[in-house]
Amino acid sequence: MPKQTGLSSERPGIMEGISRSDLFEHSGAANMIVAFDTTLVAVNAKFEEMTGYSRKEVEGRMSWTRLVHPDDLKKMLEYHRLRRENPSLVPGNYEYRFIDSGGGIRWGLLTGATLANGSKTLISVVDVTELKEKQFALERTEELYENIVQTQSELIVRFTPDFVFTFVNDAYCRYYDESREELLGSPLLLKHSPPGEVEKQKKYFRSLSTDRPVSEVVEMNVTASGEVRWQHWTDRAFFDRQGNLVEIQSIGRDITDLHLTSEKLESTVEKLKNSFSLAIEMAGKIIEVRDPFTAGHQRRVAKIAGAMARALGLSEDEIIATELASLAHDVGKIHVPSEILSKPGVLQSAEWAIIRQHPVYSSEILRTIETPWDLAEIALQHHERYDGSGYPEGLSGEDIRIEARVLAVADVIEAMSSHRPYRPLVGIDLALEEIEEGRGTRYDPAAADVALYIFRKKGFEI
Ligand SMILES: [Fe+2]
Repeated sequence: MPKQTGLSSERPGIMEGISRSDLFEHSGAANMIVAFDTTLVAVNAKFEEMTGYSRKEVEGRMSWTRLVHPDDLKKMLEYHRLRRENPSLVPGNYEYRFIDSGGGIRWGLLTGATLANGSKTLISVVDVTELKEKQFALERTEELYENIVQTQSELIVRFTPDFVFTFVNDAYCRYYDESREELLGSPLLLKHSPPGEVEKQKKYFRSLSTDRPVSEVVEMNVTASGEVRWQHWTDRAFFDRQGNLVEIQSIGRDITDLHLTSEKLESTVEKLKNSFSLAIEMAGKIIEVRDPFTAGHQRRVAKIAGAMARALGLSEDEIIATELASLAHDVGKIHVPSEILSKPGVLQSAEWAIIRQHPVYSSEILRTIETPWDLAEIALQHHERYDGSGYPEGLSGEDIRIEARVLAVADVIEAMSSHRPYRPLVGIDLALEEIEEGRGTRYDPAAADVALYIFRKKGFEI
Protein backbone atom coordinates (compact mmCIF):
# COMPACT_ATOMS: atom_id res chain seq x y z
CA MET A 1 0.00 0.00 0.00
CA PRO A 2 1.20 3.52 -0.65
CA LYS A 3 2.16 5.63 2.30
CA GLN A 4 -0.90 7.20 3.84
CA THR A 5 -1.12 10.95 3.57
CA GLY A 6 -1.39 12.77 6.87
CA LEU A 7 -4.62 14.50 5.81
CA SER A 8 -7.21 12.41 7.64
CA SER A 9 -5.21 11.87 10.80
CA GLU A 10 -3.99 15.47 11.25
CA ARG A 11 -7.25 17.18 10.41
CA PRO A 12 -9.98 14.79 11.51
CA GLY A 13 -13.18 15.05 9.52
CA ILE A 14 -11.78 16.66 6.39
CA MET A 15 -11.97 13.46 4.33
CA GLU A 16 -15.21 12.32 5.92
CA GLY A 17 -17.61 10.88 3.35
CA ILE A 18 -14.95 10.80 0.64
CA SER A 19 -13.57 7.41 -0.24
CA ARG A 20 -10.22 7.05 -1.90
CA SER A 21 -11.92 5.25 -4.77
CA ASP A 22 -14.05 8.43 -5.26
CA LEU A 23 -10.81 10.32 -5.87
CA PHE A 24 -9.70 7.69 -8.38
CA GLU A 25 -13.07 7.85 -10.10
CA HIS A 26 -13.64 11.61 -10.18
CA SER A 27 -10.24 13.33 -10.34
CA GLY A 28 -11.00 14.70 -13.84
CA ALA A 29 -8.21 12.74 -15.50
CA ALA A 30 -8.37 9.33 -17.14
CA ASN A 31 -7.02 7.13 -14.34
CA MET A 32 -5.77 3.61 -14.65
CA ILE A 33 -3.99 1.18 -12.43
CA VAL A 34 -1.49 -0.91 -14.35
CA ALA A 35 0.12 -4.13 -13.20
CA PHE A 36 3.82 -4.55 -13.72
CA ASP A 37 3.11 -6.92 -16.62
CA THR A 38 1.24 -3.93 -18.21
CA THR A 39 -2.27 -5.37 -17.70
CA LEU A 40 -4.88 -2.72 -16.93
CA VAL A 41 -6.19 -3.60 -13.51
CA ALA A 42 -8.66 -0.78 -12.99
CA VAL A 43 -9.81 2.25 -15.01
CA ASN A 44 -12.25 5.09 -14.29
CA ALA A 45 -15.16 6.57 -16.23
CA LYS A 46 -13.02 9.32 -17.71
CA PHE A 47 -10.79 6.57 -19.14
CA GLU A 48 -13.85 5.04 -20.82
CA GLU A 49 -14.86 8.41 -22.23
CA MET A 50 -11.38 9.24 -23.47
CA THR A 51 -10.40 5.89 -24.99
CA GLY A 52 -13.81 4.57 -26.06
CA TYR A 53 -13.12 1.26 -24.27
CA SER A 54 -15.43 0.04 -21.50
CA ARG A 55 -14.21 -1.12 -18.13
CA LYS A 56 -15.43 -4.61 -18.99
CA GLU A 57 -13.29 -4.75 -22.11
CA VAL A 58 -10.08 -3.68 -20.42
CA GLU A 59 -9.99 -4.47 -16.71
CA GLY A 60 -7.86 -7.57 -16.22
CA ARG A 61 -7.95 -8.23 -19.99
CA MET A 62 -6.11 -5.63 -21.96
CA SER A 63 -2.50 -4.58 -21.89
CA TRP A 64 -1.98 -0.87 -21.43
CA THR A 65 0.51 -1.06 -24.36
CA ARG A 66 -2.38 -1.49 -26.83
CA LEU A 67 -3.37 2.08 -26.11
CA VAL A 68 0.08 3.51 -26.88
CA HIS A 69 1.18 4.73 -30.30
CA PRO A 70 3.92 2.35 -31.59
CA ASP A 71 6.41 5.22 -31.95
CA ASP A 72 6.10 6.09 -28.25
CA LEU A 73 5.92 2.54 -26.92
CA LYS A 74 9.62 1.80 -26.48
CA LYS A 75 10.20 4.93 -24.43
CA MET A 76 7.14 4.28 -22.29
CA LEU A 77 7.99 0.65 -21.55
CA GLU A 78 11.41 1.83 -20.43
CA TYR A 79 9.78 4.43 -18.12
CA HIS A 80 7.42 1.75 -16.80
CA ARG A 81 10.38 -0.43 -15.84
CA LEU A 82 12.49 2.41 -14.45
CA ARG A 83 9.65 3.82 -12.38
CA ARG A 84 9.71 0.61 -10.33
CA GLU A 85 13.50 0.62 -9.91
CA ASN A 86 14.05 4.31 -9.31
CA PRO A 87 11.13 6.72 -9.86
CA SER A 88 13.45 9.74 -9.87
CA LEU A 89 14.82 8.59 -13.27
CA VAL A 90 11.41 9.05 -14.91
CA PRO A 91 10.03 12.53 -15.73
CA GLY A 92 7.17 13.57 -13.42
CA ASN A 93 4.96 13.97 -16.44
CA TYR A 94 5.36 13.76 -20.20
CA GLU A 95 3.38 13.82 -23.40
CA TYR A 96 2.68 10.75 -25.52
CA ARG A 97 0.28 9.59 -28.19
CA PHE A 98 -2.48 7.16 -27.36
CA ILE A 99 -4.82 5.29 -29.66
CA ASP A 100 -8.53 5.18 -28.89
CA SER A 101 -10.93 2.32 -29.64
CA GLY A 102 -11.73 3.81 -33.07
CA GLY A 103 -8.03 3.87 -34.05
CA GLY A 104 -7.82 7.66 -33.60
CA ILE A 105 -4.49 9.07 -32.43
CA ARG A 106 -4.69 11.58 -29.57
CA TRP A 107 -2.20 13.35 -27.34
CA GLY A 108 -2.12 12.79 -23.60
CA LEU A 109 -0.19 14.34 -20.72
CA LEU A 110 0.74 11.46 -18.43
CA THR A 111 1.59 11.41 -14.72
CA GLY A 112 2.60 8.11 -13.15
CA ALA A 113 3.15 6.93 -9.60
CA THR A 114 4.13 3.51 -8.27
CA LEU A 115 1.76 1.76 -5.88
CA ALA A 116 1.89 -1.38 -3.80
CA ASN A 117 5.67 -1.52 -3.46
CA GLY A 118 6.14 -1.13 -7.17
CA SER A 119 3.90 -3.96 -8.24
CA LYS A 120 1.35 -1.52 -9.68
CA THR A 121 1.38 1.91 -11.24
CA LEU A 122 -1.26 4.58 -11.04
CA ILE A 123 -1.39 6.46 -14.32
CA SER A 124 -3.37 9.66 -14.84
CA VAL A 125 -3.77 11.04 -18.34
CA VAL A 126 -5.21 14.39 -19.44
CA ASP A 127 -6.24 14.74 -23.11
CA VAL A 128 -4.11 17.59 -24.56
CA THR A 129 -4.86 16.89 -28.25
CA GLU A 130 -6.43 20.31 -28.94
CA LEU A 131 -3.58 22.09 -27.21
CA LYS A 132 -1.02 20.12 -29.24
CA GLU A 133 -2.85 20.88 -32.49
CA LYS A 134 -2.70 24.58 -31.68
CA GLN A 135 0.99 24.22 -30.86
CA PHE A 136 1.63 22.43 -34.19
CA ALA A 137 -0.28 25.13 -36.08
CA LEU A 138 1.83 27.79 -34.38
CA GLU A 139 5.03 25.89 -35.19
CA ARG A 140 3.94 25.59 -38.84
CA THR A 141 3.28 29.34 -38.96
CA GLU A 142 6.65 30.03 -37.39
CA GLU A 143 8.33 27.67 -39.85
CA LEU A 144 6.55 29.34 -42.76
CA TYR A 145 7.53 32.79 -41.50
CA GLU A 146 11.10 31.63 -40.95
CA ASN A 147 11.21 30.17 -44.48
CA ILE A 148 9.88 33.34 -46.06
CA VAL A 149 12.26 35.58 -44.15
CA GLN A 150 15.30 33.37 -44.62
CA THR A 151 14.82 32.68 -48.34
CA GLN A 152 14.32 36.36 -49.21
CA SER A 153 17.05 37.90 -51.30
CA GLU A 154 16.34 41.13 -49.39
CA LEU A 155 18.52 41.83 -46.37
CA ILE A 156 16.38 41.76 -43.24
CA VAL A 157 17.67 42.98 -39.90
CA ARG A 158 16.14 44.08 -36.61
CA PHE A 159 17.90 46.03 -33.89
CA THR A 160 17.28 47.84 -30.62
CA PRO A 161 17.27 51.65 -30.19
CA ASP A 162 20.87 51.18 -28.95
CA PHE A 163 21.63 49.64 -32.34
CA VAL A 164 22.25 46.11 -31.14
CA PHE A 165 21.17 43.39 -33.59
CA THR A 166 18.23 41.27 -32.47
CA PHE A 167 17.58 39.48 -35.76
CA VAL A 168 19.41 38.95 -39.06
CA ASN A 169 18.31 36.76 -41.96
CA ASP A 170 20.54 34.50 -44.06
CA ALA A 171 20.78 37.05 -46.88
CA TYR A 172 22.10 39.66 -44.44
CA CYS A 173 24.75 37.25 -43.10
CA ARG A 174 25.82 36.27 -46.62
CA TYR A 175 25.94 39.90 -47.75
CA TYR A 176 28.29 40.98 -44.97
CA ASP A 177 30.04 37.59 -44.91
CA GLU A 178 29.53 37.20 -41.16
CA SER A 179 27.84 34.51 -39.11
CA ARG A 180 24.60 35.07 -37.23
CA GLU A 181 26.48 34.47 -33.96
CA GLU A 182 28.99 37.20 -34.78
CA LEU A 183 26.25 39.67 -35.65
CA LEU A 184 23.62 39.12 -32.97
CA GLY A 185 24.30 41.16 -29.89
CA SER A 186 26.96 43.29 -31.58
CA PRO A 187 26.60 47.02 -32.25
CA LEU A 188 25.08 47.42 -35.70
CA LEU A 189 26.25 50.88 -36.63
CA LEU A 190 29.85 50.50 -35.60
CA LYS A 191 30.06 47.27 -37.53
CA HIS A 192 29.06 48.30 -41.04
CA SER A 193 29.01 52.10 -41.21
CA PRO A 194 31.97 54.28 -42.10
CA PRO A 195 32.97 56.37 -39.02
CA GLY A 196 31.56 59.65 -40.34
CA GLU A 197 28.20 58.04 -41.04
CA VAL A 198 27.47 56.77 -37.53
CA GLU A 199 26.17 60.03 -36.04
CA LYS A 200 24.18 60.79 -39.19
CA GLN A 201 22.49 57.40 -39.04
CA LYS A 202 21.74 57.68 -35.32
CA LYS A 203 20.03 61.01 -36.00
CA TYR A 204 18.08 59.46 -38.87
CA PHE A 205 16.78 56.54 -36.76
CA ARG A 206 15.83 58.93 -33.95
CA SER A 207 13.72 60.87 -36.49
CA LEU A 208 11.34 57.90 -36.85
CA SER A 209 8.21 58.43 -34.75
CA THR A 210 4.76 56.99 -34.14
CA ASP A 211 3.44 59.51 -36.70
CA ARG A 212 6.08 58.55 -39.23
CA PRO A 213 7.29 55.04 -38.38
CA VAL A 214 8.43 54.12 -41.90
CA SER A 215 11.15 55.75 -43.90
CA GLU A 216 13.32 54.95 -46.90
CA VAL A 217 16.96 55.77 -47.26
CA VAL A 218 19.94 55.04 -49.49
CA GLU A 219 23.03 54.17 -47.50
CA MET A 220 26.66 53.39 -48.08
CA ASN A 221 28.07 50.51 -46.02
CA VAL A 222 31.39 48.74 -45.83
CA THR A 223 31.52 44.93 -45.97
CA ALA A 224 33.89 42.80 -43.87
CA SER A 225 36.33 42.72 -46.79
CA GLY A 226 36.30 46.52 -46.89
CA GLU A 227 34.23 46.78 -50.05
CA VAL A 228 32.01 49.85 -50.30
CA ARG A 229 28.43 48.93 -51.18
CA TRP A 230 25.24 50.94 -51.59
CA GLN A 231 21.83 49.81 -50.39
CA HIS A 232 18.27 51.00 -50.46
CA TRP A 233 16.66 50.47 -47.01
CA THR A 234 13.06 50.58 -45.86
CA ASP A 235 13.10 51.15 -42.11
CA ARG A 236 10.17 50.62 -39.78
CA ALA A 237 10.18 51.62 -36.12
CA PHE A 238 8.17 49.73 -33.49
CA PHE A 239 6.91 51.47 -30.36
CA ASP A 240 5.42 50.28 -27.06
CA ARG A 241 2.03 51.49 -25.78
CA GLN A 242 3.70 54.51 -24.19
CA GLY A 243 5.19 55.48 -27.56
CA ASN A 244 8.77 54.55 -26.65
CA LEU A 245 10.90 53.25 -29.50
CA VAL A 246 11.42 49.52 -28.90
CA GLU A 247 12.86 48.09 -32.08
CA ILE A 248 13.67 48.98 -35.68
CA GLN A 249 13.34 46.66 -38.65
CA SER A 250 15.26 47.37 -41.84
CA ILE A 251 14.73 45.64 -45.14
CA GLY A 252 17.34 46.44 -47.73
CA ARG A 253 18.61 45.54 -51.17
CA ASP A 254 21.94 46.15 -52.80
CA ILE A 255 21.85 48.94 -55.37
CA THR A 256 25.60 49.31 -55.87
CA ASP A 257 25.43 48.41 -59.57
CA LEU A 258 22.48 50.73 -60.10
CA HIS A 259 24.27 53.48 -58.19
CA LEU A 260 27.47 53.09 -60.23
CA THR A 261 25.49 52.93 -63.50
CA SER A 262 23.61 56.11 -62.72
CA GLU A 263 26.87 57.84 -61.75
CA LYS A 264 28.39 56.68 -65.04
CA LEU A 265 25.29 57.82 -66.92
CA GLU A 266 25.45 61.23 -65.30
CA SER A 267 29.06 61.65 -66.34
CA THR A 268 28.25 60.38 -69.85
CA VAL A 269 25.42 62.91 -70.15
CA GLU A 270 27.80 65.60 -68.91
CA LYS A 271 30.39 64.59 -71.54
CA LEU A 272 27.71 64.47 -74.25
CA LYS A 273 26.44 67.85 -73.24
CA ASN A 274 29.98 69.19 -73.45
CA SER A 275 30.54 67.76 -76.93
CA PHE A 276 27.14 68.98 -78.17
CA SER A 277 27.92 72.30 -76.64
CA LEU A 278 31.20 72.39 -78.54
CA ALA A 279 29.52 71.44 -81.84
CA ILE A 280 26.77 74.00 -81.35
CA GLU A 281 29.24 76.69 -80.35
CA MET A 282 31.29 75.91 -83.47
CA ALA A 283 28.16 76.24 -85.59
CA GLY A 284 27.39 79.51 -83.83
CA LYS A 285 30.88 80.81 -84.56
CA ILE A 286 30.40 80.43 -88.33
CA ILE A 287 28.13 83.40 -88.35
CA GLU A 288 30.43 85.41 -86.10
CA VAL A 289 33.17 85.11 -88.72
CA ARG A 290 30.80 86.69 -91.24
CA ASP A 291 29.33 89.20 -88.79
CA PRO A 292 32.06 90.38 -86.43
CA PHE A 293 29.76 92.95 -84.83
CA THR A 294 27.72 90.19 -83.32
CA ALA A 295 30.77 88.19 -82.23
CA GLY A 296 30.19 86.88 -78.73
CA HIS A 297 26.49 87.81 -78.90
CA GLN A 298 25.26 84.21 -78.86
CA ARG A 299 27.62 83.20 -76.04
CA ARG A 300 26.45 86.12 -73.90
CA VAL A 301 22.79 85.39 -74.72
CA ALA A 302 23.40 81.78 -73.64
CA LYS A 303 24.80 83.02 -70.33
CA ILE A 304 21.78 85.26 -69.67
CA ALA A 305 19.21 82.71 -70.87
CA GLY A 306 20.82 79.93 -68.80
CA ALA A 307 20.69 82.05 -65.63
CA MET A 308 17.07 82.97 -66.35
CA ALA A 309 16.08 79.32 -66.98
CA ARG A 310 17.65 78.30 -63.67
CA ALA A 311 15.97 81.12 -61.74
CA LEU A 312 12.65 80.18 -63.36
CA GLY A 313 13.04 76.65 -62.01
CA LEU A 314 12.98 74.93 -65.40
CA SER A 315 14.00 71.28 -65.58
CA GLU A 316 17.62 70.31 -66.11
CA ASP A 317 16.80 69.29 -69.71
CA GLU A 318 15.05 72.60 -70.42
CA ILE A 319 18.00 74.53 -68.97
CA ILE A 320 20.48 72.64 -71.17
CA ALA A 321 18.24 73.10 -74.24
CA THR A 322 17.91 76.86 -73.56
CA GLU A 323 21.69 77.29 -73.22
CA LEU A 324 22.59 75.21 -76.27
CA ALA A 325 19.94 76.74 -78.54
CA SER A 326 21.09 80.20 -77.46
CA LEU A 327 24.66 79.42 -78.52
CA ALA A 328 23.59 79.02 -82.17
CA HIS A 329 20.22 80.75 -82.48
CA ASP A 330 21.48 83.20 -85.12
CA VAL A 331 23.54 80.73 -87.16
CA GLY A 332 20.98 81.04 -89.99
CA LYS A 333 22.22 84.56 -90.61
CA ILE A 334 24.93 82.85 -92.69
CA HIS A 335 22.35 82.94 -95.50
CA VAL A 336 21.76 86.69 -95.09
CA PRO A 337 24.14 88.87 -97.16
CA SER A 338 26.58 90.78 -94.96
CA GLU A 339 25.55 94.13 -96.54
CA ILE A 340 22.08 93.64 -95.12
CA LEU A 341 23.32 92.35 -91.75
CA SER A 342 25.57 95.35 -91.09
CA LYS A 343 23.52 97.98 -92.92
CA PRO A 344 23.08 101.07 -90.81
CA GLY A 345 19.70 102.80 -90.89
CA VAL A 346 16.30 101.61 -92.08
CA LEU A 347 16.03 98.37 -94.09
CA GLN A 348 14.01 98.04 -97.27
CA SER A 349 11.05 95.68 -97.04
CA ALA A 350 12.78 93.12 -99.30
CA GLU A 351 15.86 93.23 -97.05
CA TRP A 352 13.68 92.94 -93.97
CA ALA A 353 11.98 89.88 -95.49
CA ILE A 354 15.38 88.22 -95.87
CA ILE A 355 16.35 89.08 -92.27
CA ARG A 356 13.09 87.60 -91.00
CA GLN A 357 14.01 84.27 -92.56
CA HIS A 358 17.13 83.76 -90.41
CA PRO A 359 15.34 81.79 -87.61
CA VAL A 360 14.16 79.34 -90.31
CA TYR A 361 17.73 79.00 -91.64
CA SER A 362 19.04 78.57 -88.07
CA SER A 363 16.58 75.76 -87.41
CA GLU A 364 17.49 74.05 -90.70
CA ILE A 365 21.15 74.05 -89.76
CA LEU A 366 20.52 72.90 -86.18
CA ARG A 367 18.28 70.11 -87.40
CA THR A 368 21.35 68.52 -89.01
CA ILE A 369 23.04 68.14 -85.60
CA GLU A 370 21.47 65.23 -83.76
CA THR A 371 20.98 65.99 -80.05
CA PRO A 372 18.52 64.85 -77.36
CA TRP A 373 17.08 68.39 -77.29
CA ASP A 374 14.91 70.11 -79.91
CA LEU A 375 17.31 72.98 -80.47
CA ALA A 376 16.04 73.59 -84.04
CA GLU A 377 12.52 74.35 -82.78
CA ILE A 378 13.78 76.71 -80.07
CA ALA A 379 15.95 78.63 -82.56
CA LEU A 380 13.02 78.76 -85.01
CA GLN A 381 10.88 80.48 -82.37
CA HIS A 382 13.42 82.94 -80.92
CA HIS A 383 11.90 85.96 -82.66
CA GLU A 384 8.31 85.00 -81.89
CA ARG A 385 6.62 87.39 -79.46
CA TYR A 386 4.29 86.54 -76.60
CA ASP A 387 1.46 88.63 -78.08
CA GLY A 388 1.84 87.07 -81.53
CA SER A 389 3.61 90.07 -83.08
CA GLY A 390 6.85 88.17 -83.85
CA TYR A 391 8.13 86.14 -86.76
CA PRO A 392 8.41 83.83 -88.70
CA GLU A 393 5.07 82.25 -87.76
CA GLY A 394 3.40 84.77 -85.47
CA LEU A 395 2.96 82.23 -82.67
CA SER A 396 1.74 83.51 -79.30
CA GLY A 397 1.58 82.65 -75.58
CA GLU A 398 2.35 79.10 -74.63
CA ASP A 399 2.40 77.98 -78.28
CA ILE A 400 5.94 79.30 -78.11
CA ARG A 401 8.23 76.93 -76.25
CA ILE A 402 9.34 78.15 -72.83
CA GLU A 403 13.01 77.92 -73.87
CA ALA A 404 12.26 80.22 -76.84
CA ARG A 405 10.35 82.71 -74.63
CA VAL A 406 13.37 82.87 -72.30
CA LEU A 407 15.80 83.11 -75.23
CA ALA A 408 13.77 85.96 -76.78
CA VAL A 409 14.11 88.12 -73.64
CA ALA A 410 17.82 87.30 -73.22
CA ASP A 411 18.40 88.07 -76.93
CA VAL A 412 16.80 91.53 -76.66
CA ILE A 413 18.69 92.39 -73.45
CA GLU A 414 22.06 91.39 -74.95
CA ALA A 415 21.44 93.04 -78.32
CA MET A 416 20.37 96.35 -76.78
CA SER A 417 23.06 96.52 -74.13
CA SER A 418 26.08 95.77 -76.30
CA HIS A 419 27.94 98.06 -78.61
CA ARG A 420 27.04 98.30 -82.32
CA PRO A 421 28.93 100.63 -84.64
CA TYR A 422 25.82 101.54 -86.63
CA ARG A 423 23.76 102.86 -83.70
CA PRO A 424 24.23 104.76 -80.48
CA LEU A 425 24.85 102.62 -77.34
CA VAL A 426 21.58 101.80 -75.59
CA GLY A 427 22.90 100.13 -72.42
CA ILE A 428 21.60 97.61 -69.93
CA ASP A 429 19.27 99.99 -68.05
CA LEU A 430 17.33 100.91 -71.17
CA ALA A 431 17.35 97.25 -72.24
CA LEU A 432 15.71 96.27 -68.94
CA GLU A 433 13.18 99.10 -69.32
CA GLU A 434 12.26 97.70 -72.73
CA ILE A 435 11.64 94.29 -71.10
CA GLU A 436 9.62 95.86 -68.29
CA GLU A 437 7.57 97.82 -70.78
CA GLY A 438 6.93 94.76 -72.97
CA ARG A 439 6.16 92.43 -70.04
CA GLY A 440 2.99 90.48 -70.81
CA THR A 441 2.77 91.84 -74.38
CA ARG A 442 5.91 91.17 -76.38
CA TYR A 443 7.56 89.18 -73.62
CA ASP A 444 6.39 86.27 -71.47
CA PRO A 445 5.63 87.89 -68.06
CA ALA A 446 7.44 85.16 -66.10
CA ALA A 447 10.53 85.36 -68.34
CA ALA A 448 10.47 89.19 -68.12
CA ASP A 449 10.14 89.11 -64.31
CA VAL A 450 12.99 86.67 -63.90
CA ALA A 451 15.27 88.74 -66.14
CA LEU A 452 14.52 91.93 -64.18
CA TYR A 453 15.04 90.00 -60.94
CA ILE A 454 18.45 88.54 -61.78
CA PHE A 455 19.81 91.85 -63.20
CA ARG A 456 18.33 94.28 -60.70
CA LYS A 457 18.11 92.26 -57.48
CA LYS A 458 20.78 89.61 -57.87
CA GLY A 459 23.39 91.82 -59.55
CA PHE A 460 23.74 89.52 -62.58
CA GLU A 461 26.27 90.78 -65.09
CA ILE A 462 26.78 89.82 -68.72
FE1 LIG B 1 18.09 86.45 -84.04
